[in-house]
Amino acid sequence: MKNNNVLLTGGAGFIGSHVARHLLKLGFEVVVVDDLSGGFEENLPDGVEFFKGDVGETVLIEDLFKKYKFKHVYHLAAYAAEGLSHFIREFNYRNNLLTSINLINASINHEVETFVFTSSIAVYGRNQLPMREDMVPFPEDPYGISKLAVEHDLEAAHRMFGMKYIIFRPHNVYGIHQNLGDPYRNVIGIFMNQIMFGLPLTVFGDGKQTRAFSHIDDVAPIIAGSVNVPEASCKVFNVGADESVSVNDLAAKVMTAMGKQVKIDYLPARNEVQHAFASHDLVKKTFKVDGSPVSLDAGLSEMAEWAKKVGPRKGKPFGKIEIPKNLPPSWKKL
Ligand SMILES: NC(=O)c1ccc[n+]([C@@H]2O[C@H](COP(=O)([O-])OP(=O)(O)OC[C@H]3O[C@@H](n4cnc5c(N)ncnc54)[C@H](O)[C@@H]3O)[C@@H](O)[C@H]2O)c1
Repeated sequence: MKNNNVLLTGGAGFIGSHVARHLLKLGFEVVVVDDLSGGFEENLPDGVEFFKGDVGETVLIEDLFKKYKFKHVYHLAAYAAEGLSHFIREFNYRNNLLTSINLINASINHEVETFVFTSSIAVYGRNQLPMREDMVPFPEDPYGISKLAVEHDLEAAHRMFGMKYIIFRPHNVYGIHQNLGDPYRNVIGIFMNQIMFGLPLTVFGDGKQTRAFSHIDDVAPIIAGSVNVPEASCKVFNVGADESVSVNDLAAKVMTAMGKQVKIDYLPARNEVQHAFASHDLVKKTFKVDGSPVSLDAGLSEMAEWAKKVGPRKGKPFGKIEIPKNLPPSWKKL
C-alpha cells in the first residue's frame, strides 16, 4: 500500500513554500529538497521534513525515494531567471533540464503515481496571444526551452512507463516569500527592494510592456490539490491572472503600496516579449475555480507589509556568467 508521502523540490522557494503549506493542509507528509540557492529555510512551514541538497544529486534523491516511497512528486526547483538564461546556458540546461530528468528517472523507477511539474508560459514564445495550451510552443530562450523539454520528456515517460503527470505553466506570480534580493527576476520584488533602499525603480524600455501579475493564493492551492483531480491527469494548464497591467502602471501601484514615491530610471530595452497574457479557461473548468482572484492592489499591499517587515535584501549577482556578450549593461554592473 502506498503512503501519503510527497516529495516537493524547491520547497524553500517562493511558490514552493506556499505549495508546501497547502500540501500539509491536504494531509500529505511533505519532504522538501532545496539547495537554498534561491530559497530560504525560514520560508518552510512547520511540519515539513527538509533536506538541503541539489535535485541533481543522484545518490541523495535515490536514498530519499527508497526511504519515503513517495506517492507524488512536485518538482518546482529551478533557476528561473528567464532573461539571464541566455547568458548562463550550460548552467540553465544542467540545473533546469538534467536535474529534472534525474528526478523523473527516480520517479519512474520507484513507481510514483503523479509527477507535478511547474513549467512556465516562457514555453510559448512571441506573438502567441492569448497563450493557449493547444498552441504549438515556440520558446525563445534557454529557460523556456528547458521547461518545454521537460514537458516533452514527461509525455514520453508517460507513454513508455505509464507515470501520470500534471504540468502547470504559471506566469508572473508574486506575493509573500518572494526573493526580494534577486536582481534578475520578479519585477515586483525588485521594485519593493529598490524602494526600501531609497533607489529609483529601474524599468527596461519605455515601461509600456504588459504582464498579468498573479497572486500566489490563486496559484499555489491549485498546484497542491491537482493530484486529487482525476481530470487534471496528463494535462497542461496555464495558471495565473487574467488582467494585464503595464510596467509603468505597476510601478505606480507598487509605490502606493509601499507608501513612498521614487524616481523611475528607464534603461535600454531588453530583448523580451512586449505583451504576455494567457487563457485560463482550462484551469478554471478543470479545477472549478470560483470566487474572484486577489486584486493587484490588495495583493501588493499585503506583500508590501511583509517586505517592510523583512527589510531590503542585498542583491546577489549570479556567480558565473558564461556569455558576457549582449548582457544588459545594468546586469554587468551588479
Ligand atoms: N514565480 C513565477 O512567476 C514563475 C512563473 C513561471 C514558472 N515558475 C516556476 O515555478 C517554480 C518555482 O519558482 P519560484 O518563483 O518559486 O522560484 P524560487 O527561486 O523562489 O524557488 C525555486 C527554489 O528552487 C531551489 N533550487 C533551484 N535549483 C535547485 C536545485 N538544482 N536543487 C535543489 N533546489 C534548487 C531554490 O533554492 C529555490 O528555493 C520554478 O520551477 C519556476 O521556473 C515560476
